[in-house]
Amino acid sequence: MCGIVGYIGPKEKKEILLDGLQELEYRGYDSAGIAIIEGEKLNNYKAIGKLANLREKTKNYTSDGFGISIGHTRWATHGKPTELNAHPHLGAYSYVVHNGIIENYQDLKEELQADGVNFLSQTDTETIVHLFEKFHKDSNQPFPAFQETIGRLEGAYATLLITEASPETIFFAKSGSPMLIGFDGDEVYFASSDTPIIGKATEVYYLEDGEYGYVKDGQVHLYDANGEKSFTKQALTADKVSAQKDGYRFFMEKEIYEQSQIMGDTMIGRVLDDSINFEELDEDFFDEIYAIKICACGTSYHSALASSYLFERIGKMRCDVEIASEFRYKEPFLTDKTLFITISQSGETADTLEALKMAKQAGLKTLSICNVDNSSIVRESDTAILTRAGIEKGVASTKAFATQSMVLWMLALYVGQTKNTISKETIKTEIDAMLHTPKALVVTDKLHAKLTRLSKRYLHGHGFFFIGRDIFFPLALEGALKLKEISYLHAEGYPAGEMKHGPIALADSELFTIALMPKTMLYDKIKSNVEELSARDATILAISPEPFDLADDFIQTKYDSHPMLEFFEMMVVTQLLALEISVRLGNDVDMPRNLAKSVTVE
Ligand code: F6R
Repeated sequence: MCGIVGYIGPKEKKEILLDGLQELEYRGYDSAGIAIIEGEKLNNYKAIGKLANLREKTKNYTSDGFGISIGHTRWATHGKPTELNAHPHLGAYSYVVHNGIIENYQDLKEELQADGVNFLSQTDTETIVHLFEKFHKDSNQPFPAFQETIGRLEGAYATLLITEASPETIFFAKSGSPMLIGFDGDEVYFASSDTPIIGKATEVYYLEDGEYGYVKDGQVHLYDANGEKSFTKQALTADKVSAQKDGYRFFMEKEIYEQSQIMGDTMIGRVLDDSINFEELDEDFFDEIYAIKICACGTSYHSALASSYLFERIGKMRCDVEIASEFRYKEPFLTDKTLFITISQSGETADTLEALKMAKQAGLKTLSICNVDNSSIVRESDTAILTRAGIEKGVASTKAFATQSMVLWMLALYVGQTKNTISKETIKTEIDAMLHTPKALVVTDKLHAKLTRLSKRYLHGHGFFFIGRDIFFPLALEGALKLKEISYLHAEGYPAGEMKHGPIALADSELFTIALMPKTMLYDKIKSNVEELSARDATILAISPEPFDLADDFIQTKYDSHPMLEFFEMMVVTQLLALEISVRLGNDVDMPRNLAKSVTVE
């Protein structure tokens, strides 16, 4: 999804912008651009495709002396990925970058066109710069013109604007899309997440919705609906090294391998000898709660769905799960005494954030499970539990899913523990299994080599069906999502018992069935389901501890004592399978086509 970087200060600005945008590459984009004003000189470069193209275009340019600068990576929403549609967008003497969607842009555009303004792009963003220049022409005062502009925008935006009319100032505004301000002495940075400013800024302020203002002479002037306001910066402590590849071919591969070790971080201080402890939750947190509703998107939705089995089975609490984009418009019937949980890796997913706001408005208690502290979803929730997976850069989410699943498993147990609905023995059994999770997530050379070999047989066919039962059904959904995201092959996740109600009609030797066959859960049931597919000549890749005669290919997992351990071990197998198929197909594993890491538009 789009990324923004800005800088005001004496340093070389081109490199700061390009390096910053590189840190945001993982969000997914299709074009990029920068605009720099130094003294009276204005420079603007744009390129479609990867940042390397923009680097090439700007190789003979360097900025010197004090100046202001903005940069952007664009993920197309309005208009194709072309240079004209790439940001920064130009007025007569001003430039703008923007993340989000201006919902009333058609009305604004028509109004501006009626005034004789000529639009160069098909974007919604271009209206911002023309509106600004229109108001500036009237008042000749840049900041009031910017204020008036912001007042006319409907929808979601994080935006930076620079203008030759005030060549020492960056104007900014945030509403519904993420943006932060970084500080290093008198130098000021902007970015849509903290990765571009790590190692550059020492302090940070995360803008809230409705805040806007300008930076001049190293001073940030911050406003909201009530006028100018003060704000408190916080130290920026994140570590840059953790964001590098560490010798792996891809971030996704590194992140798959990391899962075993980070699970310890997710559990530390939370999984105790004979109980679960969440410092984030007050003792009476669940006192008035009798049901749980979870909203999320994509991979996070899959972890939510898996947890719904656990909340009911272990926590003995009703749990419904909904896709956030569906929830938003269905006029949901929300009852009090329901805990509303949102799950998000990025904490910025627009649909999930909106669902959360709706639940809050309806008076529900809210909890988010998130990987990014200070993200919009964390800040919007009453309480947050961080998954502690570290920065995830591969667009196809892996370790975020693993840590979400773990936190939700712990939370299900915590509910049973605080509501006294489960025995001490059950708590102990679950905790023992949790402590074995890091082992279940270890990637052995043997497993990886086997999947690399096997992947060559799965590069074609008319489709993949990942099938499983119970918690292995959401895992099947997640396995299929991983495969389609990075291989571009058609894959579906399905409840194994449902195949006979329709999809079995597709079965033939070119239908690849990836069967998740845990030994600790409904083994005989899924075995029958797979036999039915095999009888119709489907090609079967079975993942199971138990050898299975009818399998065309077989990945043997360990005989574990608990379904969740089998869940995590099979999760790793499906992640590596998707990775190796994608590598063989020559795809961009970390930045698959059309996808964005952080989906900040509806
Ligand atoms: C898939 C993937 C997406 C995200 C979804 C929600 O690999 O990453 O499906 O899970 O866009 O994103 P978050 O979790 O950031 O809310």
